[in-house]
Amino acid sequence: MDNQIFVINTFILKSNNDEYEENKIKKIFVKKKLGEGSYGLVFLLDNNHVIKIFKNSTLNNTILNESSFLLPIKNENRELIFYYKYINNKKENNFIINLYGIGLIKDMIIDHDQQYDINSYFIILPYCISFYNNFNVYNSQLLHKHNGLNFTLNVMKRLIQISEFLEINYNIINIDFKLNNFMFPEKTKNLNNLIMIDFSIIKNKSKKKYNIENKYYIWPYNENVSLEYIPSYSICINGLELLFGYDEVIQLPNKNKINYFLKNIEKKNKNAYTIFYNGIVKKINTLDFSKLISSLSN
Ligand SMILES: Nc1ncnc2c1ncn2[C@@H]1O[C@H](COP(=O)(O)OP(=O)(O)O)[C@@H](O)[C@H]1O
Ligand SMILES: [Mg+2]
Repeated sequence: MDNQIFVINTFILKSNNDEYEENKIKKIFVKKKLGEGSYGLVFLLDNNHVIKIFKNSTLNNTILNESSFLLPIKNENRELIFYYKYINNKKENNFIINLYGIGLIKDMIIDHDQQYDINSYFIILPYCISFYNNFNVYNSQLLHKHNGLNFTLNVMKRLIQISEFLEINYNIINIDFKLNNFMFPEKTKNLNNLIMIDFSIIKNKSKKKYNIENKYYIWPYNENVSLEYIPSYSICINGLELLFGYDEVIQLPNKNKINYFLKNIEKKNKNAYTIFYNGIVKKINTLDFSKLISSLSN
């Protein structure tokens, strides 16, 4: 299907962009597939916008049970509730992606050799550039590179700032802090423009323990850990990825590996070690982590 244009009839539910009129049927011209995650299929449109079509498996997402209070559209879909709330024209898009629209797919997606697992909801987004591409740092090992540690701490600072924004303004915690969920809306190396594009695993903020059944390298291993510690922990894992390479962190969770990483950071810089130690071993919440990283890095 890549590079093959297809057309889908959609019904636009909510929009903040002139190209998408609310409560109207619209034909959407799809140019090519850009990516796929556990929750979404992402395609480029002929107008250079991006469509993210949710998979049926999204229906099992925990958001569904947790965010009904966000419901501004009265229909059975829940994950969009969140997105609906986050359609913003308040220039919050310096932290999170600014949606152009939300809608329902009216057609089956026609493809010769693949049956997609889709539910009928989609969102339309601006086209973004990935963090990795912009800096060319996928699987690189920055620890001993000039400015590598500084760059890593600055990325972590930006990520914790985004978590803080969501927690303070919306009382929600995103527990899917991994670097491919962050992109730039334009070609720039300014980390202040790095935004969160993916809200697929979001929880209401609370001090309750979250039983992480599936092991996922950005989550604390097999621990009944308080939700509020997860962003800092995950952001440290992203930091480790930048310092030691993706191939190394994907082997987490692994206690020996963590110790090895921490020791090497300690040899390089004591303050950086304190930051990582607090996020990974001691575990602290977003606000405390944000203060710590601001006080110890420059
Ligand atoms: N706005 C966008 N512009 C360009 N590529 C995108 C955009 N949104 C998503 N993608 C690509 O699609 C992939 C999956 O999207 P994502 O929103 O993370 O879905 P999931 O919730 O399934 O993880 C991303 O990692 C990225 O490569
Ligand atoms: Mg994703």
